[in-house]
Amino acid sequence: MELGAGGVLCSSMLEDALNKIEGVPSLAQLAQGIVAPSEHDRGIEAPDKNPDLCGPDGNVYTPDPLAQMGKRTHPLIAGTKVHLITFGCQMNKYDSEMVAGLLNEKGAGFVDDPAQADLLIMNTCSVRGHAEDRVYNRLHVLKERKKQQPEFMIAVMGCMAQKEGEHIAKKFPFVDLVIGTRMLDEFPQLMERVREGARTPLVAIDVKPDVKFGETVARRESKHLAYLTVTRGCNKRCTYCVVPYTRGPEVSRSIDDVVNEAKRLVDDGVSEIMLLGQTIDTYGYDLNNDTNLWKLLNALHPIGGLKRIRFITSHPEECREELFATMADLSDKVMPFIHMPPQSGSDRMLRRMKRGYKRARYLEVVEAARKRNAEIEFCGDWIVGFSGETDEDFKESLSLMEEVRFQNSYVFKYSVREGTPAQKLPDDVPEELKKERHARLSELQEKISAEKNRARIGGIEEVMVEGPSKHGDRLTGRTRSHRLIHFAGPVSLQGQIVRVKATAATALSLQGEMTE
Ligand code: 5AD
Ligand code: SF4
Repeated sequence: MELGAGGVLCSSMLEDALNKIEGVPSLAQLAQGIVAPSEHDRGIEAPDKNPDLCGPDGNVYTPDPLAQMGKRTHPLIAGTKVHLITFGCQMNKYDSEMVAGLLNEKGAGFVDDPAQADLLIMNTCSVRGHAEDRVYNRLHVLKERKKQQPEFMIAVMGCMAQKEGEHIAKKFPFVDLVIGTRMLDEFPQLMERVREGARTPLVAIDVKPDVKFGETVARRESKHLAYLTVTRGCNKRCTYCVVPYTRGPEVSRSIDDVVNEAKRLVDDGVSEIMLLGQTIDTYGYDLNNDTNLWKLLNALHPIGGLKRIRFITSHPEECREELFATMADLSDKVMPFIHMPPQSGSDRMLRRMKRGYKRARYLEVVEAARKRNAEIEFCGDWIVGFSGETDEDFKESLSLMEEVRFQNSYVFKYSVREGTPAQKLPDDVPEELKKERHARLSELQEKISAEKNRARIGGIEEVMVEGPSKHGDRLTGRTRSHRLIHFAGPVSLQGQIVRVKATAATALSLQGEMTE
């Protein structure tokens, strides 16, 4: 083995090892939901008694067909005071809002103060260790409360529940319900079972292909903005990433299904929709009927009352010219913003991450998008300190950030995830160096964001008014390119599009004045 620059282990043997990692279920296996037990699906339980649902001691539950059809009322849930905490990404926020919508339909109420709640739900994230630690810490604290107040209920849902469900049930036996990513549409029915005296923790983890929230309208944080999940799961296998194992293979919803949900949202007062998919560019491919993202955008565009459409997350290998053409054609509603994570600027790292593209491809995509529409801005995700990352590799990330001039970025320190292919690679960049690289990349982004924002001063921005700003008496909104902007105006403008002249800028936001 050789030592690369900065004392970081870098060996071609490791590169080879990456290609030979065994035990990763194939996409075909995942697609069929027949993932053979391996360390990669640890926690994605395949109980032997019942393929659908199984408690930790093997007690068996079957889904309630009437409840599944939405035809059963839930007197035990009516009046329950719920406090719901969401960790992680927008996809989790959408799931939380839908589960809240389901519970709302059954008569539950919602409280801001967890101390007032009868039911505390945590929607969890497994992408980085830190997110999991926060949930475990909270569970430790909740143990005392449950002792004092045994009727108080605790539910753990989402990615950690899917990945670590059995472990959570064993380590925190006072939890009432553990519910994985593909069972969320059955949340009220499962809660009902708990209330009816089912043995707890009730663990509901399934490999069923899809989640069907039916006609439920999300109970949203914002009246005017809504998330709308169009694909679940991911067919990519980036070596560091746990998502394919917590959310399963990619499953798309039909265009009709998405359009109907969008119409319900607009009827409910929504003016801007954010479409969600792990790799949104491959939306529809699994339906095998020529469905794709640009057809979906064309189908959503005519909805009266829908003012803005956004979509995340794009993948550099999959982002297509047709999308840029559609964004240009429908630019009155489809906003010029692409969240396309590079993860690294170094080809060597991209290969180790199995991202499926090189730096040059990333730059080509950016160029093609901007050629169609110069207004398009990019947002990036970056991982620093991935296995084997040398100073030279890191410099490539710095230079890619400079070259693209992202509007904003999310920078993460690499965190080894159990069950991912990269778990077998050494986590060999010392924590201090990860921190330093994190700070350097973040500082560079801050500088670029501040420069780009300052260049907007004097210009007129079309702004969707989100509501009163957190501090003070001003309004907050988003420009077409998703920049935050603060300005004075009446709250009655919420959900409207107004014109605002930018008067000042920082790296994070603009200040402005409303104009005609
Ligand atoms: N460690 C650090 N960051 C990660 N991400 C995904 N997996 C990991 C990991 N193991 C980051 C990627 C992704 C974002 C959602 O989280 O940048 O785009
Ligand atoms: Fe994870 Fe890669 Fe899929 Fe994104 S594309 S969710 S990083 S596996």
